[in-house]
Amino acid sequence: MFEKASSIIKDPSRFEYDYVPKNLVNRQDQMHDLEVLFRPLVEYDRTCNAFLMGPVGTGKTVTAKRFCQDMKDYCAGRGMALDIIYINCRNNSSENSVILNLIRYFDKGYPERGFSVEDMARVLKNHLVKNKKPLVVILDEVDVLLKKSTVDIIYQITRLSDDTSKPAPVSIILISQQSIYSMMDDATASTFRRTTMVRFDRYSREELRQIAKERAEEALLPGKVGDEVLDQIADSSEEFGDARMAIELLERAANLAEEESVGEVTVENVRAAKAGIYSIVSESKIEALDLNRKLTLLAIARAMKQNVMIPISAAEKTYAIACEEYDVPARKHTQFWGYVQDLEKVGLVKTRVSSSGKGGRTTTVSLPDIPSKVLASKVADMLDSELTGREDIDEM
Ligand SMILES: Nc1ncnc2c1ncn2[C@@H]1O[C@H](COP(=O)(O)OP(=O)(O)OP(=O)(O)O)[C@@H](O)[C@H]1O
Ligand SMILES: [Mg+2]
Repeated sequence: MFEKASSIIKDPSRFEYDYVPKNLVNRQDQMHDLEVLFRPLVEYDRTCNAFLMGPVGTGKTVTAKRFCQDMKDYCAGRGMALDIIYINCRNNSSENSVILNLIRYFDKGYPERGFSVEDMARVLKNHLVKNKKPLVVILDEVDVLLKKSTVDIIYQITRLSDDTSKPAPVSIILISQQSIYSMMDDATASTFRRTTMVRFDRYSREELRQIAKERAEEALLPGKVGDEVLDQIADSSEEFGDARMAIELLERAANLAEEESVGEVTVENVRAAKAGIYSIVSESKIEALDLNRKLTLLAIARAMKQNVMIPISAAEKTYAIACEEYDVPARKHTQFWGYVQDLEKVGLVKTRVSSSGKGGRTTTVSLPDIPSKVLASKVADMLDSELTGREDIDEM
């Protein structure tokens, strides 16, 4: 048991969520922006703030951490100590726990309970005012905190910069997928508006391929990932532009290859990995669909069977049957077509117009990644749970 030596993976820690690679693919502009923003801190001991914004998996967290670590090393080289505190607000979503984390940086034994948020904010302020080393606080996924907070901790920290008697500056880096200005009071919003926002765009296919390639070089034994495998990873994650997805695909595919003892990662391993990940990603998309669109998706999945694509008319027939089965009135052709287009907009299906033999044109529909059987049973499960109890409600 377990005795088999690994033949693919060299260092699994390189796949861990908080691993920060030395080199980041195409984030030089963002690193440069941060350097410009933080130059006053390094050179004149001044407070600097930044706001990092962009969609899921675009490297916001990893860039902030890489930058702060590099800045700390640079400062250390010049005999200047710098403190960095990183807090993820999704795991610490109350003001209380953010403040507690900050206080504990200065006072490890500070008790978890027994003090009000206001008391704790005062204690924290004292620590920050007295602190002798420049401090950078990274508040990641800060929108989660801002949606809930009562005492505005960010406001309080930014106000500290007005206090000229304190020995060292306190800077903040905020990170969020969405804009946060409307969630802050006017004064704090204007502080962060004044600093340039650092934007992160979705990765291109080529960037995703390079990210997967570099991570494979770090985490896997040499020669275990061929060009086609990297192409397949890039193709499969391109729709999302999400580096986390590319890396997860690589990791899962490598694990599958390891289990199968095939000697190297194969394209088929990547497809299987994608089917696993895609079902998680798509679950929430499917969940968000209304009844008619769920029925449309179920019909397409059932009609698909072993085919790569089917004419839309075939799906429309299964749709009528599904509606009957679930006792929902079937909509007319135009409406059904509208549902299919809506499904395409959220990336659950793809349509293509092709010319048929007799000079006419047919529209075909396909499922990009998820196996049709898996999809059909997932949607059917959701419909079942959505529709159970419906009769009870109708009778009320
Ligand atoms: N440019 C890059 N080069 C190498 N690895 C990267 C790069 N960008 C992101 N990654 C890797 O991709 C994963 C996701 O990146 P990260 O966590 O920074 O995304 P994020 O923008 O913070 O996403 P979220 O909004 O979900 O928090 C991490 O494993 C990270 O190491
Ligand atoms: Mg992040």
